[in-house]
Amino acid sequence: MSTAQQVPDILSSEFAANPYPAYRVMRDTAPLIWHEATRSYLVSRYEDVERVFKDRAGEFTTDNYAWQIEPVHGKTILQLSGREHAVRRALVAPAFRGSDLERKFLPVIERNARELIHAFRHTGSADLVADFATRLPVDVIADMLGLDKGDHDRFHRWYTAVIAFLGNLSGDPEVTAAGERTRVEFAEYMLPIIRDRRRNPGDDLLSALCAAEVDGVRMSDEDVKAFCSLLLAAGGETTDKAIAGIVANLLLHPDQLAAVRADHSLIPRAFAETLRFTPPVHMIMRQSATEVQLSGGTVPAGATVTCLIGAANRDGSRYAHPDRFDIFRDDLTTTTAFSAAADHLAFALGRHFCVGALLAKAEVETGVGQLLDAMPDMRLADGFVPAERGVFTRGPQTLPVCFTPPTGTPPQ
Ligand code: HEM
Repeated sequence: MSTAQQVPDILSSEFAANPYPAYRVMRDTAPLIWHEATRSYLVSRYEDVERVFKDRAGEFTTDNYAWQIEPVHGKTILQLSGREHAVRRALVAPAFRGSDLERKFLPVIERNARELIHAFRHTGSADLVADFATRLPVDVIADMLGLDKGDHDRFHRWYTAVIAFLGNLSGDPEVTAAGERTRVEFAEYMLPIIRDRRRNPGDDLLSALCAAEVDGVRMSDEDVKAFCSLLLAAGGETTDKAIAGIVANLLLHPDQLAAVRADHSLIPRAFAETLRFTPPVHMIMRQSATEVQLSGGTVPAGATVTCLIGAANRDGSRYAHPDRFDIFRDDLTTTTAFSAAADHLAFALGRHFCVGALLAKAEVETGVGQLLDAMPDMRLADGFVPAERGVFTRGPQTLPVCFTPPTGTPPQ
């Protein structure tokens, strides 16, 4: 096993600016690193990260979420295992797939995307991160839960604080304090709404969560609040970065953008390749329940393991030309890319595979499709080169574009 000194540290500014060269060194020469600052083992190869996520032998737990996220959310399904996890996951899973998704939520996604684009398309320029990517996922979840979209700025602030708490690898006390404030503020906001929704249920996901029974027992107000907090955080920041990521990747590859413009059925392919090439979540942790032998060495029992998704997804032993964005690559399967049979690792795999993957796909397909239709000549603002930001989660920070506005009267 190697020590962290041999490769750029994951907390260094060099790594934050561009982690991909460091990921390569890790995979090639130090596939299992003890990282003192995070007191965790860094795992970078595809075969090892896949093995940890799939966890066929029951060697890993998600107990790390007890300190990583419970202090801001309360206890959520991320932390649960076995039957308790399966039963609670089954409460929300139907809303995020199949007929519920198509019938109830696709129109919500279409309407929200249209409204956001309508607000800027007459101006000839926009920042697709601030004006679109950060707004669509939160607006959609708020509508699904029956919350007031007017509170968008608060939701955005809260989920950003929650995700920062989750990825607070350096233990920044300000990030910890903001996370704790968020727990209090979110509870003050949500608990009265939950109590009201129990008395006056509607046709929304929050009412369904309030009414749901787990093994004959209703979820407490605290449980429902924790679920909502998880949905906002897990579905907000990730999808936001995914939308910005796919648009940035396409704008940087004009030939592939032209292909997607000509045939929107290529959007899922471009999204799958974006998830591989620039995943929104770069790191996911686990605890080892027992001693585990990985390709890079031995992880002792009771250790924290940091799975480097961004590294594993560019493993040259799994993907040809891994550092090339190529929506036509034949070693990534689009049809399974949004299910637990995915062959990229951006949604994890196994029991905790992202329950919102199909919702994210619907948001990206609809959102990107509408952006391309509304702005046929959309291009990056002159001289602007998109840059990713973030270590735990990562994506373009801004994405200024310009385009020819439609002729006619601008909206009031
Ligand atoms: C491109 C967008 C997304 C990405 C990259 C993403 C990524 C992930 C990852 C990596 C996990 C696994 C966590 C772990 O194993 O420890 C996960 C789980 C989860 N995601 Fe997503 N996610 C996305 C969108 C969404 C959306 C839209 C929602 C719902 C609104 C959502 C809700 C959840 C939930 C509830 C879990 C926990 C599942 C469980 O523990 O069984 N995600 N997601």
